[in-house]
Amino acid sequence: MKKVRIAPSLLSADFANLKGEIGKVDNADLLHIDVMDGHFVPNISIGALVVRAIRKETILPLDIHLMIDSPRRYIRDFILAGGDLISVHIEATGEKASEVVQEVKRWGKKAGIAINPSTPLSKIENVLEEVDFVLLMSVEPGFPGQKFKREVLPKIRELRKRWKGDIEVDGGISRDNFKEVIQAGANILVAGSAIFKEKEPARIVREMQDEGNKIWN
Ligand code: DX5
Ligand code: ZN
Repeated sequence: MKKVRIAPSLLSADFANLKGEIGKVDNADLLHIDVMDGHFVPNISIGALVVRAIRKETILPLDIHLMIDSPRRYIRDFILAGGDLISVHIEATGEKASEVVQEVKRWGKKAGIAINPSTPLSKIENVLEEVDFVLLMSVEPGFPGQKFKREVLPKIRELRKRWKGDIEVDGGISRDNFKEVIQAGANILVAGSAIFKEKEPARIVREMQDEGNKIWN
């Protein structure tokens, strides 16, 4: 049986003190890192150099969420920098999604396909068999601290009905709604503000893991 996994998103951490911030969530299951290029999304965040620096500070698997155009160009860089799970957006890869997914898998890493709230599941139908996980966005990608889009709950349920793999949900997840997200069928939860804006991030992580696993089992 799968276990619920909690992935704190570093985007809401204090970037001037990344080492300290990472240390606060060492009980998490994954560390979620948002890469933005100012093209696919309006914001620019961090690149492979920073991922490499983070790699030295934690043993958690690094979950790299590529919100960038033409992601294939950068797969190698992010894997050599220490990425363990790499997701690319269907909106950025289109018909090439399968090639990009295969590239990640050739490196022996976990490949995910990410999908925006307004993109229908039918768009990822063709790659579902190849990916290790699906990342369903529950906010428009680009910024932390947005409100969870509840219309994504039926989308999680629909995907869970026909797919047994890992379902990661990202955006606006908090202590108020994480249970619903798991009930709908997700088993990897990303949370940025809800974890890093709290005084004791590790306590929120533990609560989400413990409460989450009660629902899951
Ligand atoms: C949004 C990013 C998310 C974001 C989550 O574009 O992909 O990972 O950092 O942050 P919260 O949990 O604050 O919505
Ligand atoms: Zn993300």
